[in-house]
Amino acid sequence: MAQYQKIASISEITDGKMKEFKVNGKTIVIANVTGEFLAFDGICTHAQCALAGGFLDGYTLTCYCHGGQFDVKSGEVLSPPPVSPINIYPVKVESDDILVEI
Ligand code: FES
Repeated sequence: MAQYQKIASISEITDGKMKEFKVNGKTIVIANVTGEFLAFDGICTHAQCALAGGFLDGYTLTCYCHGGQFDVKSGEVLSPPPVSPINIYPVKVESDDILVEI
């Protein structure tokens, strides 16, 4: 059953940055978009490239492999070649800790 787990500290992920974590056998990424922390699958649904190696512009993440784009808030595909969305995960911040429900 999914439960909130501490994954990172807020100081680890500065504004506009993202970082990959391995949690329960999953690869997830936490991004900081102007102080809002978002968690989502770290593997591109197109050809399994690591999304943490991509480029973040606001909520738009561009995969470095083939330029596919995702909205990291909704998980939706914004630009092909990916056709399937990425999973997103609820996040809460408690003091300096970032907790993700996985
Ligand atoms: S692997 Fe991400 S766009 Fe192709």
